[in-house]
Amino acid sequence: MWILILIINVAGFLNIAEGIGPSGNCTLLPKGERSFPQNFSFGVSTSAYQIEGSWNADGKGPSIWDEFCHNHPDNILDRTNGDIAANSYRRFDLDLEALRDLKVNHYRFSISWTRIYPSGDISSKNQKGIDYYNNVINQLIANGIQPMVTMFHYDLPIELQKLGGLTNELFIDQFVTYADELFKNFGDRVKTWITFNEPVRFCKPGYGTGRDPPQIKASGIGDYLCIANILKSHAAAYHLYRSKYFDEQHGKVGISLDTSYFFSKSNDNELVYRSLQYNLGILAHPIYSKSGGFPEVMVKEIERNSLQEGRLKSRLPSLEGKWKDLIRGSGDFLALNHYTSKYVERSPQPLGDNPSMQRDYDTIETVDENWLQAHSYWLNCVPEGMEMLLNFIRDEYNNIEVIITENGWSDSGEIEDNNRIVYLKSYIQAVLNAINDGCNVTAYSVWSFIDNFEWIQGYTDKFGLYSVNMISPERQRSPKKSARFYRQIIETRKIPNV
Ligand SMILES: *[C@@H]1O[C@H](CO)[C@@H](O)[C@H](O)[C@H]1NC(C)=O
Ligand SMILES: *[C@@H]1O[C@H](CO)[C@@H](O)[C@H](O)[C@H]1NC(C)=O
Repeated sequence: MWILILIINVAGFLNIAEGIGPSGNCTLLPKGERSFPQNFSFGVSTSAYQIEGSWNADGKGPSIWDEFCHNHPDNILDRTNGDIAANSYRRFDLDLEALRDLKVNHYRFSISWTRIYPSGDISSKNQKGIDYYNNVINQLIANGIQPMVTMFHYDLPIELQKLGGLTNELFIDQFVTYADELFKNFGDRVKTWITFNEPVRFCKPGYGTGRDPPQIKASGIGDYLCIANILKSHAAAYHLYRSKYFDEQHGKVGISLDTSYFFSKSNDNELVYRSLQYNLGILAHPIYSKSGGFPEVMVKEIERNSLQEGRLKSRLPSLEGKWKDLIRGSGDFLALNHYTSKYVERSPQPLGDNPSMQRDYDTIETVDENWLQAHSYWLNCVPEGMEMLLNFIRDEYNNIEVIITENGWSDSGEIEDNNRIVYLKSYIQAVLNAINDGCNVTAYSVWSFIDNFEWIQGYTDKFGLYSVNMISPERQRSPKKSARFYRQIIETRKIPNV
């Protein structure tokens, strides 16, 4: 019997627990301890382009998002851009006031590469950009708030895109030089580093479908190349930190990966497992699994598809040899962005463009129309998925430390944001349940701290705990009802009954 179990486990889907299915009502019963550990860190999350504004102030260079919004406003739902946004570059004092009011333990924000190196390259180093982030970091620490820094959150320097951006292996060296600058300037105070945010969300629309900047349409090829170069850049920056900075700075380095959770109405655990590999494993397996490399199922299937297309080898780049070993183990923690769940089913006929990531994945994703729906079309409240996902990560990646860097709800901006409270309550309960099940989760961050520029949705999807007066030049922040709710959780370490 145990041999049988062993065989099944090699296939991996024992890591899909038989546990809970979605109840559909956006609530989750508590199990185990009712309080979060005292040292659990609660925070909020933002990114540079989405809040900073001041797009060309003090020497800042243009990023691909500046260029895209300026030259292709039709591609943004409300034809807006991040030129001013919440103007956090000029009004960090307002952010600090709200962060203090919220009593967060940490603040996760990103650094704009083109403030540090306006052309992307070290030769253009801009002290004013470094000064800005020094001030942000110092003020946070003076107020007992730990800075958690993302190094790259989509805003690639335009000058680097001219060289092919993430599809050119030259990028690896450029990223490591930039990372070195950040560690050197800020690493005495920043102890939690995130190299990249949501690589798949950047690579697929950026170098695959071409929907988002830099609008390269190289579906099924450019997107995988981008992902491979992100893995390599991440690993190279990780090893730089370990060899040059860790002994003195004692910080940790990880990467933010996003995935939905997946449920199967027909209890097809193999399909659920495969969906998790295609969405999370594509980056998590090379870094956090014992064996390293891309997930076996992807390697096999994409090679098969590539040969069928008449190619001589797989479109999925090889991570064999030196890189496989450098990437494997190159994460002190897994930073997780998780929002929602889907039902998955096998597709009776090939999906999507040929070739494409969608066609390789070849899985139909649906939702239950009874699931509470956010303003964002892709976002439903399914808290069971958060609990199941954290359990999967515990079993699949040897209980690596997990820092939840994003989780949140969108609406159209109401101050009495009751659905956001319902969502947060159930998802934070899911995190607590997972901790009680032995999952190594040490921090949780709400996306987002303040309403912001939500990429191609412009300012139409509001994710903030605070609203921002986008009409007034002062850009005042005001707490929504959910900010009060979240503060109560942070203060009491318990989830209130509301
Ligand atoms: C938090 O405290 C618990 C004991 O209450 C300990 O086991 C755990 O290692 C601590 N975690 C961190 C991140 O310090
Ligand atoms: C939690 O993660 C940290 C860092 O990966 C690790 O040192 C620790 O052993 C993990 N804790 C458990 C209970 O596995």
